Amino acid sequence: LASTEVDLSAIQPGQAIKTTFRSQPLFVRHLTEKEIAEADKVDAGGLRDPQTLEERTVDGKKQWLVTMGVCTHLGCVPLGAGEGENKGEFGGYFCPCHGSHYDTAARIRKGPAPKNLEVPKFSFTSDTAILVG
Ligand code: FES
Repeated sequence: LASTEVDLSAIQPGQAIKTTFRSQPLFVRHLTEKEIAEADKVDAGGLRDPQTLEERTVDGKKQWLVTMGVCTHLGCVPLGAGEGENKGEFGGYFCPCHGSHYDTAARIRKGPAPKNLEVPKFSFTSDTAILVG
């Protein structure tokens, strides 16, 4: 199956881009220090789909949050990766189809979605590029 290379160099802290991986939406987000702190202060064990930000990112590069842009409820594309889009009550992503709110680690926090946004297999090919898949 095809891999996708993503250039990170133009993605500023606080920005996210929407691209595609294997014909599905892929979100690549450059977290700010504040967004990382918000994700880290949550007791992950109490979440619906318990995962820490560390578990969802690469060692030493937790500012780079790479997830599928596919809501785990019924597959809509959440908002939050575009300029000025609604990021939901937890500052990450918001699925308007039935109101699922994801946090700054793209973990489900409120609404019907059962799981966090999926993190695909990816690796860094340089400081400013990743290979997904
Ligand atoms: Fe996202 Fe239903 S598809 S909340």
